[in-house]
Amino acid sequence: MNLFEALRASHDLQRKLCRSLVRVKPGERDTVFIKLKIELEAHAASEERFLYVPLLMTNAGLSASRHALAEHHTIEELCDELSVPDKSTAAWLITARRLSDKVHHHLREEERKFFQLAGKLIADSDKAVLGKRYLKDLVEMRRHYAGAYKSVAVDRSGMLVSAGAAA
Ligand SMILES: [Fe+2]
Ligand SMILES: [Fe+2]
Repeated sequence: MNLFEALRASHDLQRKLCRSLVRVKPGERDTVFIKLKIELEAHAASEERFLYVPLLMTNAGLSASRHALAEHHTIEELCDELSVPDKSTAAWLITARRLSDKVHHHLREEERKFFQLAGKLIADSDKAVLGKRYLKDLVEMRRHYAGAYKSVAVDRSGMLVSAGAAA
């Protein structure tokens, strides 16, 4: 799996979790939200380290990288806003929809613009190495962020699961 295929696999998971966040019953929002928050945090950290740091080192990649990092920050702030005990309110759902829209916009822009740019700026010989490092770091970061919650864990294959299903 090269760097871009690996990044897109997490994007697909983020889209799936966003869709279910705004559709599930209020009582199920907490677990879906925690999974989404962990995936967003873990992916952003690993993507910043293994895609945007190399891109930031090139003049042609500066502007795109800054834009993407600013969006990661906005997404983090929306997750903070949603991290409240009562997730059953109409106001919570409105913010959840804003998060979902923002995530969808961000992923689309990365896949259509920034990955294409990075594909030209990063040497082919580096793409496989960066992909491997990104994937290893992603699983470590999922474990790192999941450590703060009882309801979600990371299984042997490195995927997020509801706690109790990890064995
Ligand atoms: Fe991103
Ligand atoms: Fe991404």
